[in-house]
Amino acid sequence: MSNTNQLEMMERIALDLERVERALASSFNTGAEDFNDLIRPLSEAGGKRLRAQLCLLIANAGQSIETERIKIAEAVEMLHLATLIHDDVLDQAEIRRGEDTIHKHKGNKVAILSGDYLFAKAFRIVSEMPHMEYLKVFSHIISCLVEGEFMQMEDVYRIDQGIERYMIKTQKKTADFMEGCMELGGLLGGWSSEEIGYLKQYGHALGMAFQITDDIMDYRETSDTTGKPVGNDLREGLLTYPLLSIVNETNKDQLLEDIQNLNHGGNEQDIIDYVIARGGIDNTLRVAQQYCDDALSALQAIRDFEGKEFLVLAVQNLADRKV
Ligand code: FPP
Ligand code: MG
Ligand code: MG
Repeated sequence: MSNTNQLEMMERIALDLERVERALASSFNTGAEDFNDLIRPLSEAGGKRLRAQLCLLIANAGQSIETERIKIAEAVEMLHLATLIHDDVLDQAEIRRGEDTIHKHKGNKVAILSGDYLFAKAFRIVSEMPHMEYLKVFSHIISCLVEGEFMQMEDVYRIDQGIERYMIKTQKKTADFMEGCMELGGLLGGWSSEEIGYLKQYGHALGMAFQITDDIMDYRETSDTTGKPVGNDLREGLLTYPLLSIVNETNKDQLLEDIQNLNHGGNEQDIIDYVIARGGIDNTLRVAQQYCDDALSALQAIRDFEGKEFLVLAVQNLADRKV
């Protein structure tokens, strides 16, 4: 694909994203000004809009209708916002995107209502689309997210949960959303079902690599600028790939005791050092790389299309944030 085509595609996505931002900004109109003022800053803080971008890119690379792809991208970002607001209630998190969370600022009741509102609005948008298929994909994403959260809740401090369980949870919590965005883009753009299959494979692999590299950030700082504090997951009893990959019959009881002690004066650096010394990070990097390779293989199976390089770049960026 020529550089001019790539540039045109970049411009088209940038224009689309501006439209999505405008649509989002005008959506917070509940009639309760305080309420609108709460959601707006979180939305405007933005994040990477990665999910909307995946959708828009695939839709644009096919034959899509502008109003439809903007609406779906808006709904996807609204859903993402809703899940983050609810997630911060579940995790009792105080900071999100550099700001106080709604739950910290206004309490659980307001946070839950805010998330519900966005969730309902997102559904409304998707229900107005001309095809039921969008609604099916959207509902599937949501049920997977909730299943993933349930699994995570059940697995707190469960040191012998096993890698397989962790992988299913990661798929539901993160990868199914990215896979769903690729599918929505594919449907919007009129891609063939075979191509949509490969696009979904890409989304799945990207999502898995995304979450697994995110897990590394709990064990050491990386080049990623979002810089989450090291040891947070461990203190909450969330046991992720680096640790699960080095747990065995001999060390599991002691490790569990040390992790449970973290909230009673224990030192997370000792656990982190132990996991790193046993090769926990190396194991994690290896499996993340495998998913990055899977994502690239899925792309190779699809014909060349405008914007394909951006999907390669997204994988590359993930590979870079691991170091
Ligand atoms: C972030 O994870 C959150 C998720 C991956 C999904 C949260 C989903 C729900 C709360 C349930 C569904 C909600 C609705 C509105 C139906 P994290 O806590 O690991 O990451 P973080 O560091 O971004 O907080
Ligand atoms: Mg959280
Ligand atoms: Mg969470």
